[in-house]
Amino acid sequence: MKIVTCVAPVNIAVIKYWGKRDENLILPINDSISASLSTDIMCAKTTIMASPLLKENKFWLNGREQTFDSPRFSNCIKAIRARCDETLPQFNWKISICSENNFPTAAGLASSAAGYACLVHALAQLYEIKGEISDIARQGSGSACRSIYGGWVQWHKGDLPTGADSIATQIAPADHWPEMRIIVLVVNDCRKKYSSTSGMKTTTETSTLVKFRAESVVNQRAKAMKKAIEDKDYESFAEITMKDSNQMHAICLDTFPPCVYMNDTSHAIVNLVHSYNEYKKGQKVAYTFDAGPNACIYLLQSEVEQFISVVNHVFPKPADIDAVEYYRGLTLPNKQLDKKIVDDLNLTPHDTGVLKYIIYTKVGGGPQVLGDP
Ligand code: DP6
Repeated sequence: MKIVTCVAPVNIAVIKYWGKRDENLILPINDSISASLSTDIMCAKTTIMASPLLKENKFWLNGREQTFDSPRFSNCIKAIRARCDETLPQFNWKISICSENNFPTAAGLASSAAGYACLVHALAQLYEIKGEISDIARQGSGSACRSIYGGWVQWHKGDLPTGADSIATQIAPADHWPEMRIIVLVVNDCRKKYSSTSGMKTTTETSTLVKFRAESVVNQRAKAMKKAIEDKDYESFAEITMKDSNQMHAICLDTFPPCVYMNDTSHAIVNLVHSYNEYKKGQKVAYTFDAGPNACIYLLQSEVEQFISVVNHVFPKPADIDAVEYYRGLTLPNKQLDKKIVDDLNLTPHDTGVLKYIIYTKVGGGPQVLGDP
């Protein structure tokens, strides 16, 4: 019998992947760049047991049994097994897979990316596979290939029709930019209305803007973003991050019928960030939104206290939510609100939206093996 348990990170893109050139192999129309987040607060965890005593293959996701036959899942298993040495005993044993996320699934919080990266990493350990596996994680969910590495990661779109060169590489490790922090403002953690997969399929079929992005914008942006990360140039990083998120959502609206992921609260956060940056006379805080209303804020540690003061004023914590439950990973709110910035910005509490909770985290490492449970 062999048992392996792994954890893998969520990643949040700063240059977005939106649109495929091959639906089956999951090949994107452009390069994308993300940071993998620390697994302390958000991660996927997968345990796989292989044994000659098991009678059939089984898979549980967040406590619910799933089919082994769904195309993306079985493609990953087949692709990993194709690289395994068939003389290993475990190659012929049945497997039992148990996966869970410690954060909401399918709420636009990159759960499938962490989940597939974790699955593929754990399978690679089980079958003793060395070398590149991001191309296999990509076949589970495109963005999963970026969660195969820690730190700052680029997914190269690749040119080959086989997808062999559509892989992720690390731009810089997790400790490259130690001051960088991520705050996730969770507006809604319910399952999203249109999945990224179906949203981007309709985009590729109907949007004219997406072609303009692929041909004239995103390559230069990815290059500039890589340089901003390498140089730790926060101002450029922030500006490109926000512009790229806005462009992705503009393309979602240019899709027919449109995919609307951001809501009033998301737009209130966008306005708040721009007011804050205007007050600070520079880009000090950057938002990015995936296929959902939740805001991921990239900022340097030196801004966290003031920015959280402003967030707490505009979106006060609902009285019935426990502070530890609300501020996940954050101890600052016990401090006094920074009244001056709140007064100077003349902010009023947002009238319609409250936040569900706030996650505070850092850039972190890649998947890790935890050993036998
Ligand atoms: C908005 O990787 O979830 O988060 O490849 O169809 O599984 P599939 O899509 P997925 O799309 C993620 C889109 C995004 C942007 C990004 O992470 O780059």
